[in-house]
Amino acid sequence: MRQPIIAGNWKMHLGRVDEALAFVRRIRHPLNEIEGIERVLCPPFSVLAAVAEVLLPTNISLGAQTMHWEERGAHTGEISPAMLEGLCKYVILGHSERRATESMAESDTAINRKVHSAMSHGLNPIICVGENLQQNEAGETHAFVVKQVRAALEGLTAEQAKKCVIAYEPIWAIGTGKAATPADVNRTIGLTVRGAIVELLGEEVAQAVRVQYGGSVNVENIATFMAMPEVDGALVGGASLKPDFVELVRRAKNF
Ligand code: 13P
Repeated sequence: MRQPIIAGNWKMHLGRVDEALAFVRRIRHPLNEIEGIERVLCPPFSVLAAVAEVLLPTNISLGAQTMHWEERGAHTGEISPAMLEGLCKYVILGHSERRATESMAESDTAINRKVHSAMSHGLNPIICVGENLQQNEAGETHAFVVKQVRAALEGLTAEQAKKCVIAYEPIWAIGTGKAATPADVNRTIGLTVRGAIVELLGEEVAQAVRVQYGGSVNVENIATFMAMPEVDGALVGGASLKPDFVELVRRAKNF
């Protein structure tokens, strides 16, 4: 049995200490009471330490939104795995907003380096994959996502891979209010994401890795995704910034 995992990716929001703390103080007790599902908050770097402190008495986990693969060095503005070690349990890697050419242009190779580096610092990667609209419409989703999954997990041992979470986030569904259909998500996660892991590391690993869906998940549609057997949780953007994120997590339970 894979334990479901819901993570809130705050992106570049709630990044001031006062606003982040006000929000977390409001949601932490009810969120903490929800059992049987792992809950993760991924705030911006500017508030990670402050949020970590307020979450101390809870079993809500903390995640970072990216990191460099190097432990230290001349990398202005970057955050290293050593800086996150002991502070975060998770780190989101390869989000499409960072893979985008007009943004950070992160390559599959860079993401794989980061995955290995996270592993060696005791951080569990949440690896984002997903096709854009053009690829989706051209029927290229399967081939593209298989390539991303293979590249990200390249060189990992079975034990390391089992600690990874994969977030299948079709780019066209992110922040658009147009979520993919639960049936399509179930098929892509089962055949494409797990299929790629089977080829790389075998069936046992593929069945152990948790795979989330991300893209316009909200309090109204979360249950429809969680009802799908291949879906082990969600990576939530916009809807994780509101107090009813607690209700969203409640509705993700019991599937
Ligand atoms: P939205 O939930 O705002 O669509 O964002 C999804 C996402 O990118 C999470 O990483």
